[in-house]
Amino acid sequence: MYSAMHLCAWTCFSDHVSGNMPIKNYEKILLKIKNSPIFKNTYYNIKDQSKIFHLHRVKMSFRSKPRKRQWAGFFIGGYITVVMSIVGFSGLFESFVQKGPMNTGHETLECKECHLTAPGTFRQQVQASLKYALNVRETKPYLGHLPVKNQVCLDCHDRPEDRHPVFRFIEPRFAKAREKIQPHSCLSCHMEHMGRRVTIEPDYCMHCHAKLSLKKDPLDIAHHTLIEEKKWNTCLRCHDFHGNHIFDTATHTSKMIAEFKVMDYFQGAPSPYSSEKRYEAKKQKE
Ligand code: HEC
Ligand code: HEC
Ligand code: HEC
Ligand code: HEC
Ligand code: HEC
Repeated sequence: MYSAMHLCAWTCFSDHVSGNMPIKNYEKILLKIKNSPIFKNTYYNIKDQSKIFHLHRVKMSFRSKPRKRQWAGFFIGGYITVVMSIVGFSGLFESFVQKGPMNTGHETLECKECHLTAPGTFRQQVQASLKYALNVRETKPYLGHLPVKNQVCLDCHDRPEDRHPVFRFIEPRFAKAREKIQPHSCLSCHMEHMGRRVTIEPDYCMHCHAKLSLKKDPLDIAHHTLIEEKKWNTCLRCHDFHGNHIFDTATHTSKMIAEFKVMDYFQGAPSPYSSEKRYEAKKQKE
């Protein structure tokens, strides 16, 4: 769409540079330039160019060849812009404008499941945007679609026993973690249109569990030892993050899931924890 707009803008613009710009008091301006100390040395150059400019201006008539070409360019550019705008806004070719491949499990979801239309008609949205630009309105209105918020995800992925529910991390004690990884938003770890399942590095547990120490640690290598040795890549090899998979947590480091299996799972491979879940995702919102 933008390239079409460029084409259109370019044809309009070329209308100007090739000579139809009326220069009033042309002779006077030249004289001023001639007398200014800055332009003394370059004066002849300017004069020469202006002459060419001037000649063009006189010669070009409405029916001349370059003129016709400009009009043709203008109409083609305009036509493409209109068509592309209609395609863009109607969502007719939705996958055409998609940012990237859908994440794991989302391949068949409709766009509107996540991209809710902003309130008001398109005209009202444009008017509100103009008001915002002119400082008449304080809050920024949304054009077309609302941003995707946690609630959109939770409508289909409600897991009442989530061991790391996003809302918990709004608490003041997680301020530092929020600065680093924004754990209060699903998108920090599941950015959409990436063709993946998880988009964060697996060692992020360090931002909250650095002081972890279990009174009766069941592991052969205690948690605090793993943490002292900065083995942050081991955590997800025994624990899932949301606690939604049904499986027995290993107590021996020799029974840990292979690291590459966790990484493959992040990329979209089947779950290495279990195929059984406490809560299944809804295919559609109610
Ligand atoms: C599972 C939810 C989900 C579905 C389904 C989905 N998207 Fe998205 N999309 C997102 C998220 C999250 C973003 C990140 C930007 C945001 O927060 O709005 C995004 C961003 C985008 C953007 C970039 C917008 C921007 O402001 O950067 C486009 C374009 C887009 N999606 C198109 C589509 C199209 C087309 C479809 C249908 C084929 C689709 N999306 C389906 C969640 C989804
Ligand atoms: C319309 C319902 C719906 C919405 C909205 C939705 N999802 Fe999903 N999601 C699904 C379904 C269905 C699956 C595939 C089933 C499954 O694997 O659990 C899935 C799969 C996933 C998976 C992979 C699960 C797995 O075990 O393979 C993740 C991660 C995920 N969604 C995160 C999100 C996030 C983050 C959002 C918000 C941006 C979101 N979803 C919005 C329905 C939805
Ligand atoms: C701080 C990072 C982080 C945040 C925030 C986060 N997730 Fe996850 N999520 C993960 C990781 C890591 C996994 C893979 C381990 C697992 O399966 O639990 C995962 C797995 C999943 C799965 C597949 C397993 C399951 O529970 O069914 C779904 C679905 C999912 N997340 C949805 C969400 C939704 C919805 C939100 C927001 C409410 C969210 N996640 C917030 C990191 C995160
Ligand atoms: C943003 C902070 C944060 C991050 C990041 C985080 N956790 Fe947690 N985790 C918590 C909090 C808070 C609890 C609840 C325990 C508490 O109240 O102290 C918890 C609890 C747990 C529990 C015990 C759950 C239960 O049911 O008793 C496990 C296991 C766990 N986290 C593993 C992980 C792993 C593995 C990672 C990294 C993939 C991780 N956590 C990342 C904050 C975090
Ligand atoms: C070899 C497997 C294994 C590894 C590696 C491992 N854990 Fe655990 N973890 C366990 C087991 C087993 C328990 C106790 C039973 C349970 O809560 O599931 C536990 C318990 C926990 C708890 C709950 C503590 C409480 O007070 O109840 C947290 C939090 C936790 N682990 C975080 C982590 C973090 C962070 C890492 C990475 C440094 C990690 N674990 C590495 C197996 C492991």
